[in-house]
Amino acid sequence: MASYEYETHEYDVVVVGAGGAGLRATLGMAEQGLRTACVTKVFPTRSHTVAAQGGIAASLSNMGPDHWQWHMYDTVKGSDWLGDTDAMEYLAREAPKAVYELEHYGVPFSRTEEGKIYQRPFGGHTTEFGEGPAVQRTCAAADRTGHAILHTLYGQSLKNNAEFYVEYFAIDLIMSDDGQCQGVVCWKLDDGTMHVFNAKMVVLATGGYGRAFFSATSAHTCTGDGGGMVARAGLALQDMEFVQFHPTGIYGSGCLITEGARGEGGYLTNSEGERFMERYAPQYKDLAPRDYVSRSMTMEIREGRGVGAEGDHIHLNLSHLPAEALAERLPGISESAKIFAGVDVTKEPIPVLPTVHYNMGGIPTNYFGEVLNPTAKDSNAVVPGLMAVGEAGCASVHGANRLGSNSLIDLVVFGRAAAIRAGKVVDAEAPNPVLNQASVDAAFDRFDGLRHAKGGIPTADLRLEMQKTMQSDAAVFRTNESLAEGVVKMTAIAAKMDDLHVTDTSLVWNSDLMETLELANLMPNALATIHGAEARKESRGAHAHEDYPTRDDENWRVHTISRVDGNKVELSHRPVVVDPLTTEDEGGISLKKIAPKARTF
Ligand code: FUM
Repeated sequence: MASYEYETHEYDVVVVGAGGAGLRATLGMAEQGLRTACVTKVFPTRSHTVAAQGGIAASLSNMGPDHWQWHMYDTVKGSDWLGDTDAMEYLAREAPKAVYELEHYGVPFSRTEEGKIYQRPFGGHTTEFGEGPAVQRTCAAADRTGHAILHTLYGQSLKNNAEFYVEYFAIDLIMSDDGQCQGVVCWKLDDGTMHVFNAKMVVLATGGYGRAFFSATSAHTCTGDGGGMVARAGLALQDMEFVQFHPTGIYGSGCLITEGARGEGGYLTNSEGERFMERYAPQYKDLAPRDYVSRSMTMEIREGRGVGAEGDHIHLNLSHLPAEALAERLPGISESAKIFAGVDVTKEPIPVLPTVHYNMGGIPTNYFGEVLNPTAKDSNAVVPGLMAVGEAGCASVHGANRLGSNSLIDLVVFGRAAAIRAGKVVDAEAPNPVLNQASVDAAFDRFDGLRHAKGGIPTADLRLEMQKTMQSDAAVFRTNESLAEGVVKMTAIAAKMDDLHVTDTSLVWNSDLMETLELANLMPNALATIHGAEARKESRGAHAHEDYPTRDDENWRVHTISRVDGNKVELSHRPVVVDPLTTEDEGGISLKKIAPKARTF
């Protein structure tokens, strides 16, 4: 057994991750007087939320008529009827409140002439239950909305006495024998010390796992650490086959060009200079949802109408927009286009390609953020002491496809909901749980095993194998053949985790070891993704299966539940929540209105 000395810290709540969801949860917990720690592997304002550009959706009606029910309808339709209806109602209803709170906390939103929060159009956001024109629902701080939110929430959390443990890497959850989460074991990256956080509630806010793929808009830190810890604790992941490709990653670097660029009037063209989205989505054109636009771009390239020497990408045109509008509304992407594509957006189009951007799946939760144990006898049973919020979680509001700008609102609505719930279920006066030492020891054993791994494969080589396989076999379009091949390849790749070679065994700033721990987290996420995709014999949202091109509600309007053990994946299902929180009589939306139908734009 490995022996590490460690320091123990006791809190009511420990939040792991300091992106938008983690900080909103931290702030909400601390505001209620709960002793709250936020443990994060990067400095809070460097969390990946900082890269969120275009904005945050809420039906404020600042730019024209809007209604939370229209937002809810768009989210239901955007999810291709796989989202949980109670959670989607909660999201759309609470969104305006959550945004005004952000405003009052100090987020520097862009403004209209009258001084209201500026809102721009985004894909899939419409009026009149999808019958009316596109709506301006996405609240923006130029094209640096995530940056603005993150800085504000960090400042507010400090003001409310939340304590931050910065550059601490979470190794594993501490679980009692009867399944209660009691805390988390961490490694402090800058001095090599070990830390055990004992808490009544652990909130996983660790973000997505975009780095399981070769080309992603996600930061290199997006390694699915929460999903990895949950899988190792024997708990479930949900709907992992649904991976969003953002239509406009810069060709080559994958750097994000916000959908806000199309919201402000930008449009896509093929090698013939044709605005091809008019053919695929006659009503909403370039503002159709992302899965739609990404597929349309891929079809154009496949059919020989891609641009560039190899005909393998698409053009995003902004040069017709007034230079002042670009400078005021889209300064960040104008700079990114210059740096990463060598393009002056006032004169030339940006070369773009669908790029992995977001994971709709994650750790299953109810709409309070409590982690579900869907294979328990009662499928609504929660895992005591454990919550998951943000991209790490799956509430599930995005179902099979997320609408742009519904991510930032998910972060703050459910970060806030988790805090509200914790205020009810965490007793600040009660003693902390007595830690299960066996679970603490197991975390150190695993850490030590990886630290001294002396097999034949460097971490970076195995990671690249995984990323290339996921990129080619779990792509925008999928087939029986590509998915079956992906399962075989990923099973073999995951088995090689036992043959890793870690060169550096030191404990201070050891990036070799940290990347190895991250790879160990990416792997179960990637395995669940490819297995879930292979099993799902239909097309829905971001899962476009060429051998099963239509949606099959009768057999497949169900959540995929996966449990990953080593390189093995066990799949089962959980019903989709179809009932909203409130009935039509209570001011809610009628079931008839949100019943599944063909998804056209
Ligand atoms: O395009 C964007 O600005 C990204 C927003 C989002 O993913 O919600």
